[in-house]
Amino acid sequence: MAQLTLRVNGKSHSLDIDPDTPLVWVLRDHLDLTGTKYSCGISECGACTVLVDGAAERSCTMPVSDAVGSEITTIEGLGVTELHPLQKAWIEDEVPQCGYCQPGQLMTAAGLLNRNPHPSEEEIVAEMSDVLCRCGTYLRIKKAVAKTVKGGKS
Ligand code: FES
Ligand code: FES
Repeated sequence: MAQLTLRVNGKSHSLDIDPDTPLVWVLRDHLDLTGTKYSCGISECGACTVLVDGAAERSCTMPVSDAVGSEITTIEGLGVTELHPLQKAWIEDEVPQCGYCQPGQLMTAAGLLNRNPHPSEEEIVAEMSDVLCRCGTYLRIKKAVAKTVKGGKS
């Protein structure tokens, strides 16, 4: 066990924890941030994606110790005072179906726009097809990200 301080959604948290614990379990079980989902556990599906210093990262295979010193953003921290433009587009285009993959989809899209505010359609598809959706919402996801890039117009 080790004493670690983790920055999540703008707040510092002091934790007494095994430093090898995957970040997803720290978020869900220790900080009660259950918006981040667990699915494959092997960095394949993207359900557990969070932002680490603004970049999309899969939290199921990231030891919590690797996140110390970084600013972590979960779906609960995206658009706190006002909905993030991606969230507005998601709602307008009714993207989710069952919803399970959607936090990971949104955080992946947010990471893409942080890195590249004006991705092409091909770049959107390449990034987002890496996050699995069993309900097949890919077309609506692509449309919503493209709408956000264009400033809310489809
Ligand atoms: S649960 Fe992390 S990538 Fe699937
Ligand atoms: S909305 Fe159901 S898995 Fe993506």
